[in-house]
Amino acid sequence: MFKEKFKEGIISAKQFNREDIEYLLKKGREMRAIKNSNILNGKILATLFFEPSTRTRLSFESAMYRLGGNVIGFHSGEVSSIKKGESLADTIRTVENYCDCIIIRYSLEGAATMASRFAKIPIINAGSGSGEHPTQALLDLLTIKEEIGTLDGLNIGIMGDLKYGRTVHSLSILLSNFDVNVYFISPKELMMRKREKEFLYQRQLKYKDVTDYRNLLGILDVLYMTRIQKERFVDLEEYDRIKNFYIFKKTDLDETKNSFKLMHPLPRINEIPPEIDGSEKSIYFRQTNYGLHMRKAILAELLID
Ligand code: CP
Repeated sequence: MFKEKFKEGIISAKQFNREDIEYLLKKGREMRAIKNSNILNGKILATLFFEPSTRTRLSFESAMYRLGGNVIGFHSGEVSSIKKGESLADTIRTVENYCDCIIIRYSLEGAATMASRFAKIPIINAGSGSGEHPTQALLDLLTIKEEIGTLDGLNIGIMGDLKYGRTVHSLSILLSNFDVNVYFISPKELMMRKREKEFLYQRQLKYKDVTDYRNLLGILDVLYMTRIQKERFVDLEEYDRIKNFYIFKKTDLDETKNSFKLMHPLPRINEIPPEIDGSEKSIYFRQTNYGLHMRKAILAELLID
């Protein structure tokens, strides 16, 4: 059923209802117990990364190898024939002949949607400009479910670059399937955009916009921090002005509940100091491990015949 619904791939968090998410969370949990397997023996994944990545590309590649499959691809537009002027559509129509699934990261919103229109195999959106990054959001929910035990009844702060942050767009959309209170915490220049908010309003997500996170520290179950993304700014002076707007402090951690969890999709710059990495409340590196298991689950569901 999952495979049929997602036969064109995973392009947006909007494709998922609560049942789909819970199904993948169950599969992600099962994958934690499977280190190596051959269930994807004979399958080939193509990873087409036109923007830099450490976690997304390598966790998908590792997931594929861990399940017995193989990987082809490139990690820079500089080494593909796009550099010679080939269109993305022609690239997709070519690469689909060599693999069973394509993962694409591209600087333009809508690139993964466009790719899925041209492909006859599943496309996975690994980040499209300032749009979405749905598999990051799925691994974020797996992290919360496994670490806290539930996705309902939580107070969740989402902080940083909410305007250009594709991870937070997809995360907010997925959270709209659950009974949560969301606090969007950002400088006014980087507030969640109207287009995302209108969708979340329609989905009846309970959210508030705030600038200062400190008053929330005592009530939050999760604080999901993000990087201010230099590469998305047209005006670098504006970036310089707000790049250090939020820096989480060790003393902030002391004000949080015992069960509080600090998350981040990574990479981080200055917003989380390394001195709090060792806290049981800092779970961003465990989050990267959940990413491997969620991506194993996604590949298995899309690719097993
Ligand atoms: N979280 C995330 O997308 O990380 P990468 O940019 O390293 O893939």
